[in-house]
Amino acid sequence: MGKIIDGKAVSAQVKERIRQETAALKEQGTQVGLAVVIVGDDPASKVYVRNKKRACEEVGFDSYEYALPAETTEEELLSLVKKLNADDKVNGILVQLPLPAHLDDKVIINNILPEKDVDAFHPINVGRIMIGDYSFLPCTPAGVMELIASTGTQIEGKECVVIGRSNIVGKPQAMLLLHSNGTVTVCHSRTKNLKEVASRADILVAAVGKAKMITADYIKEGAVVIDVGMDRDENGKLCGDVDFESCKDKAGYITPVPGGVGPMTIAMLMQNTLTAAKIQNGL
Ligand code: GUN
Repeated sequence: MGKIIDGKAVSAQVKERIRQETAALKEQGTQVGLAVVIVGDDPASKVYVRNKKRACEEVGFDSYEYALPAETTEEELLSLVKKLNADDKVNGILVQLPLPAHLDDKVIINNILPEKDVDAFHPINVGRIMIGDYSFLPCTPAGVMELIASTGTQIEGKECVVIGRSNIVGKPQAMLLLHSNGTVTVCHSRTKNLKEVASRADILVAAVGKAKMITADYIKEGAVVIDVGMDRDENGKLCGDVDFESCKDKAGYITPVPGGVGPMTIAMLMQNTLTAAKIQNGL
């Protein structure tokens, strides 16, 4: 039986470290603040936003929530972003995606000040990640790196396979693994012989968005298997991209869904917000 990586426990450790550092900053007169903007009433987005707000409370940040109606215009949203850019109490700005169809994610993200872009979605921050000179790590891939580190696995020289090439997960994940000297392969929907490629991986990161697609025949014996998926199975139950039951005995380490990558993403958002506050205060 592979060891189950406890994302909740690892995220609790990360948040505890952030809480202590935040308390110390407060003693020196610096309070950390995160603004979270949600447009419309997508139920999943509401849950994410609630969890982000709760994490802010846990670590001692101020959180400012802006829940705007679905009909909000681009002009109105940009005007809020600009107000938050100029607000010294706000160290980080997060605009929850997806936005309603009439709003262009790119336009909004490009208007967030890069030094307050705690999602690391702004092209300046994406570019910095590419060249390995970054302050903010994209939250989900950074959380995956922490989970891999928690197993004691060295990435250097290992075969790392990332399945999925999104801008939010797959591409930055590949960069972070590469910066750690992994030998990285990125697979996607047009990859031929996916099973064969995936089963070469010492470290496999699945970010496909297809429930239980990765079965035991996709993984190498003893591999570290990280599941970024947040899918629903045939009964509507939350599950990942990895078929946990069939893979858990073959993997060396494996993340469950829920309780794996999910809690880490929010912990890393807290980390980025703290980093932003420190940089903005010259610390
Ligand atoms: N929607 C789903 N995941 C994310 C995320 O990490 N950041 C933002 N802003 N929106 C999301």
